[in-house]
Amino acid sequence: MCGIIGIVGSKPVAGRLIDGLKRLEYRGYDSAGIAVIEETDGLSSLVRRRAKGKIVNLEERVKLEPVDGVLGIAHTRWATHGAVTETNAHPHFAGRVGIVHNGIIENFTELREALKETRTFNTQTDTEVVAHMIDEAMRAGMSGQEAFSHTLKQLRGAFAIGVVIDGVEGQMFTARKGPPLAIGIGDGENYIGSDAIALSTLSKKIIYLEEGDWAVLTADGVQVYDADDNPIEREITHITGSMAAAEKGNYRHFMLKEIYEQPETTAHTLTHYIDAFNHKVKTEDELGLKGLDFNRVERVSLIACGTAAYAAYVAKYWFEQLASLPCDVDVASEFRYRKPALSGNTLAIAVSQSGETADTLAALRYCKQNGLQTGVLVNVLSSTMAREADYAMPINAGPEIGVASTKAFTSQLTALLSLAITAGAQRGFIDAEAEKSLVESLTHIPRHINETLKLDGAIEELAQKLSTAKSAFYLGRGVHYPLALEGALKLKEISYIHAEGYAAGELKHGPIALIEEGTPVIVIAPSDELFEKTISNLQEVATRGANVILITDAKGAKYAKDMAPHIITCPDVSDITAPIIYAITIQLLAYHTAVHLGTDVDQPRNLAKSVTVE
Ligand code: AGP
Repeated sequence: MCGIIGIVGSKPVAGRLIDGLKRLEYRGYDSAGIAVIEETDGLSSLVRRRAKGKIVNLEERVKLEPVDGVLGIAHTRWATHGAVTETNAHPHFAGRVGIVHNGIIENFTELREALKETRTFNTQTDTEVVAHMIDEAMRAGMSGQEAFSHTLKQLRGAFAIGVVIDGVEGQMFTARKGPPLAIGIGDGENYIGSDAIALSTLSKKIIYLEEGDWAVLTADGVQVYDADDNPIEREITHITGSMAAAEKGNYRHFMLKEIYEQPETTAHTLTHYIDAFNHKVKTEDELGLKGLDFNRVERVSLIACGTAAYAAYVAKYWFEQLASLPCDVDVASEFRYRKPALSGNTLAIAVSQSGETADTLAALRYCKQNGLQTGVLVNVLSSTMAREADYAMPINAGPEIGVASTKAFTSQLTALLSLAITAGAQRGFIDAEAEKSLVESLTHIPRHINETLKLDGAIEELAQKLSTAKSAFYLGRGVHYPLALEGALKLKEISYIHAEGYAAGELKHGPIALIEEGTPVIVIAPSDELFEKTISNLQEVATRGANVILITDAKGAKYAKDMAPHIITCPDVSDITAPIIYAITIQLLAYHTAVHLGTDVDQPRNLAKSVTVE
């Protein structure tokens, strides 16, 4: 994931900016850059140095062409859309404005369109558009701070940004809407960073911006403003102890941090798979999948374990509905032992966060031995599966530390949905108009996740009740049936409460015998075409005493307001992205239940992050 760092003070910043980037290397990147406001002979100018590859290349560049100033920003970029080039590396410039950015601006093409008469663009990035908007607002007479605040209000999406402006001496601007952003308090200088790690040698006094916050930093102080531009005091966290404490930031567990990273991580996944500028999904070639042609694929075989298998089960609906492509899903530990009837034009895709799961690796090798084209949808590009598969399909979720998979799951779903749209477009089942609409829905994912995270408090209250249960059911139909399976797994693996995911329509064929007074039943049902059928199943269990938690949207909540004692109302989202957005609610429900029970949330008993034995 991209990394941000900035310093405003009275001492030279270039060397410490680069050191800060080095502490962000763990997030993964492939280019880096710094921008500094230089003062020479009373004149100021905005200068930058950028380099592809490792930070040491940037360091060499700065040694050859030093930059000198006491105000600057820096960035590590993980190329997701736009090639790995110096031109595409941050910081981006527009007029007097320098900017670094992490995340996705959904409406950047229309914002760019509105500026095309007066501005010249050097890249097709959303980042550059923001810099032009700020510069344009200043040309219209606004101060730096006014221009920054004015621009923020026009942006839609999930992003973290840092800005310096030539001619606005001694001020640095930053904002957070989704991806986290930390402010470090120094002595005669102040800092911004993607997380506390980036700032760990600069400051242990950290302000974590909250959703929608923005701030103006000077050498002597920090002023935070909320989304309505009200000055606001945010708590200063004192980071003590190890780097791990810094890595967890202000989160109690890695799992919670990773749940909250999902606006940022799905944005990173998306920008690998879509060309937001042209409202299209990328083709196989553009994705680096040379030799893959979905027109020649007759069947997709998805193979995975655990949470990854549930992502694969959701994707089955998408490949078949969007691309009319038959799709099998197998649990990897069963796959090769069932001696599957494999056909030549099958594309086998292993879905694996770690890329090391023994059962999934064995299944991948089995497919290769049987002459199938093989892909792996993976979070670790240096993993065994990524090296052995014909095609590596990254999910770009960044390191996932919590044993219970959360951000990898939503990134797997986001990548699989994009690939299903690519398959549909390439096979002629999705026309340009439909593709544009689907891509539009995809670009809303980070923001919709961000909005769903605001349900955290309400979900925590429900978790208190759930934590007293001995068992629970999760029900869903269509794509929400595999989501019900995932919800049950999340609860089991971290709270140790037995839970079962079930197809809502299947309960009456036996398991409904288990429903008694107070049995918790979590029903996942947005108001889609299957909603009323699912509500009928909800009523079947409610009349038998079940304690129902309905996860739905506003329309569904209104319809079922007298049928379920507990309703979690998600934002209105498209049916196609609903499983990705609704996943946040089942993750938070499991997390808070486990916290109430005092289990080891990040390292649950009996579990390993990567199961490298059969
Ligand atoms: C998910 O919460 C579990 N920790 C587990 O089911 C995991 O998804 C499974 O072991 C597969 O791991 P992988 O994605 O690294 O292959």
